[in-house]
Amino acid sequence: MKFMWGAALAAHQCEGAWDVDGKGVSVSDILTSSKHNQNREIHLDMQSDVYYPSHEAVDFYHTYKEDIKLFAEMGMNSLRISLAWTRIFPKGDEEQPNEKGLQFYDDLIDELKKYDIEPVVTLLHNDMPLHLATAYGGWKNKKVIDFFSHYCETVYERYKNKVTYWLTFNEINNMLKYEYQLLPYLSGGLILDEEDADEGEIYQTMHNQFVASAQAVITGHRINKNFQIGSMTGFILVYPNSCNPLDTIETFPSYRNLFFCTDVQARGYYPTYIQKYWERKNIQLNTTEEEMQILKDGVVDYLGFSYYMSETLSASKDVEKKKDAAKILKGVNNPYLESSQWGWTVDPVGLRIVLNKLYERYQKPLFIVECGLGAIDEVSEDGKIHDDYRINYLKNHIEEMQKAMEIDGVEVMGFLPWSAMDIISASTGEMRKRYGFIYVDKDDDGNGSLKRIRKDSFYWFKDFIKEQN
Ligand code: BG6
Repeated sequence: MKFMWGAALAAHQCEGAWDVDGKGVSVSDILTSSKHNQNREIHLDMQSDVYYPSHEAVDFYHTYKEDIKLFAEMGMNSLRISLAWTRIFPKGDEEQPNEKGLQFYDDLIDELKKYDIEPVVTLLHNDMPLHLATAYGGWKNKKVIDFFSHYCETVYERYKNKVTYWLTFNEINNMLKYEYQLLPYLSGGLILDEEDADEGEIYQTMHNQFVASAQAVITGHRINKNFQIGSMTGFILVYPNSCNPLDTIETFPSYRNLFFCTDVQARGYYPTYIQKYWERKNIQLNTTEEEMQILKDGVVDYLGFSYYMSETLSASKDVEKKKDAAKILKGVNNPYLESSQWGWTVDPVGLRIVLNKLYERYQKPLFIVECGLGAIDEVSEDGKIHDDYRINYLKNHIEEMQKAMEIDGVEVMGFLPWSAMDIISASTGEMRKRYGFIYVDKDDDGNGSLKRIRKDSFYWFKDFIKEQN
């Protein structure tokens, strides 16, 4: 496969049609909309007068043909999508799949193939069946491993001649950001009290997901030995705030939270630092020898990751904390870097550093499956969207990726920025936090014509891709 230039999407953020053709309710479908630094609420009892962003999203379920035509016009040779588990197994624990859900993805993938766009398919991206969260307690329950395995086997069998590239769990490390209630809920179906999360339960949930992910790799290779199955980690690069050695030590926990996931998924076993941590915290996981063997046998073919930002940590209590993205970044301001309108630090050089760190550690192919700038876009008087800030962001990140490849020798499979078109934001449910190359006319309250408009970045990326060929 040649280098993949494309973009990324996730079902619950673009498809809408949340209860159409037999689809079940996912954990995302009961989340309200919010604003920057405010929590999205989880409504176990949905209310008829509340706006739930995923219900319509940007209606990709009904518009995918026109949208894919635009992606093809841009020259993309690949597109990352995710399958909504709830379209295929509405509650998650059924024996028989929902044919209409399977057919939808058949049609969607065929449409991509029509334009020679390679699908890169995420098996689970923040939208597990709600029923598995409420009736089984989410991923902390090992029964969910079996339900997920059944779902994977079903979709592998169905799409084995159409899809080669798979990702198992989106940003599997998000579980560890449990002080931010939304993330373990979306990733693991855990409904936690923010003040009082049980760390042992978090690690048990992750263990179950690692086993499920490794099992998905094993099953996938059995069904089609040409499948390329990757992990997906949300990579926030961490810097020490100064050359004080203690600042470097301060970065250890954050780094380890990331590398512990990639270590398990790429090497097949738990590293000693995490075992030591569990010992200190008196955390005992419920594991079996068979599961540990599955982890070993099911190491990934490549490492997919998202990269948006870096954070800077200080051991000193006197350095003021960064406030504008406090839910996600726990560190201090970095005077060398600017931030997005949502407080996410913009750090293209950080991407080169991440690529090097991952490649030095694993020597496996790397795949950038998300990277992008969430920004407020305005439609100008000329009817166009002049998003030069997004063009600069992407250009700078691509340049650093190319340095990593050409100067440092890192093996990169592709660059799939977030997002192919404007979709709803995962952290806030907003529309105004736009990432796409294509503008979608819709506001934060759900009003708008859903009309698509090509942004300046659309034309820029189109020309850029053409130059690469
Ligand atoms: C990643 C997720 O963490 O970040 C995406 O995989 C998400 O689903 C993206 O949309 C950007 O985050 P947000 O909250 O700005 O939409």
